[in-house]
Amino acid sequence: MPNKTFNASQRLMNVQLPIIPIISDLIKKNPGTISLGQGVVYYGPPQKVINEITRLNLTDDFHVYSEVEGIAKLHSIISKKLISENKISLNQGYDLIVTAGSNMGFMNTVLSIADPGDEIILLRPYYFNHEMAINMINCMPVIVDTDLHYQPCMEKINDAITQHTKAIVTVSPNNPSGAVYEKKVLEEINKLCKEKGIYHISDEAYEYFTFGDVNHFSPGSIANSSDYTISLYSLSKAYGFASWRIGYMVIPQHLSLSIKKAQDTYLICPTRIAQEAAIMALEVGNKYTKEYLNKIENIRNKLYSQLTAINNICTTPLTMGAFYFLIKLKTQLTGIEIVDKLINKYKIAVIPGETFGMNDGCYLRVGYGSLNEKNSKIGTQRLINGLKEIIT
Ligand SMILES: Cc1ncc(COP(=O)(O)O)c(C=O)c1O
Repeated sequence: MPNKTFNASQRLMNVQLPIIPIISDLIKKNPGTISLGQGVVYYGPPQKVINEITRLNLTDDFHVYSEVEGIAKLHSIISKKLISENKISLNQGYDLIVTAGSNMGFMNTVLSIADPGDEIILLRPYYFNHEMAINMINCMPVIVDTDLHYQPCMEKINDAITQHTKAIVTVSPNNPSGAVYEKKVLEEINKLCKEKGIYHISDEAYEYFTFGDVNHFSPGSIANSSDYTISLYSLSKAYGFASWRIGYMVIPQHLSLSIKKAQDTYLICPTRIAQEAAIMALEVGNKYTKEYLNKIENIRNKLYSQLTAINNICTTPLTMGAFYFLIKLKTQLTGIEIVDKLINKYKIAVIPGETFGMNDGCYLRVGYGSLNEKNSKIGTQRLINGLKEIIT
């Protein structure tokens, strides 16, 4: 026997436990639980994708490795989408890399811009996988609070910048708060990045999910921002594609080589068949997502009105995007304790605020993208009843 003990690396020991598998385990132990936990939509890919994918002529080139940055035909359709929807032209000094989902886009980004000890600014509440990725590569997430409506505070962001800062991350529409950042605010953050010589990482996984008359804005479209703006996109939510694993990133050209090195090492190439599926989905276009958006908005409005009806125990900032509310509860219990009770006794799952860095007070992320007309009423009822009974 070797006289050494076997240990996982300290680097990964320091990373928070992934919450989704933990909640999924709790749900499995409580069959019949309705999940407002995972950030997924209730619909799958367009029917055209499902019909046509099985009819593909799988020639030999489907089975060999393809380009690390994604196949040309997919690049072509994404480039058109970027111009027409995001007002981003790749000719402005950007490159495009197709990834296996936008989490990979984020990992590619931090690996290519930061060295151990560097700092990356995240706005609290943050998307947990961003914080995990930064810790994983021995960099420092610097956490900056947003205001009571989960909107960025320029002064606080400014104060957090040091000589070690490499980037500011914005997620708009936001997971977990649902906040959509105004164009003006994103422009200010982008300008600050330019002035300070740091990158602006803009995660736009929820670009289509805005409600009322609120619009999404892509900072990558700002003139002369292509040296320092990285935009991350995903088909997971928009096209019900979560498991197909296709996303893409628009990056400054000078990062291309580094990002390809990283992606070549842990992916080699995005799955060819999933790229073909992505082409089919993008050919259907965002009218597909918009069809579902009205239904999601209806469910959201009903959920919001029921949550505001219990405002004696729960505060619900009205946010205008993604498919989340981040509620604050008037209780001494922790978010994790409440979630445990909600699943075990009331068979309804949500995510505790601690996951997103909300440790001062009790917060829960309520995700309504997975609810459909059938289960939304009962799901909402279980949540409201559970909260009322637990917090008395
Ligand atoms: C803000 C944000 N970025 C990225 C992702 C991951 O997307 P993908 O499935 O494309 O990796 C999620 C998923 O929940 C998300 O909420």
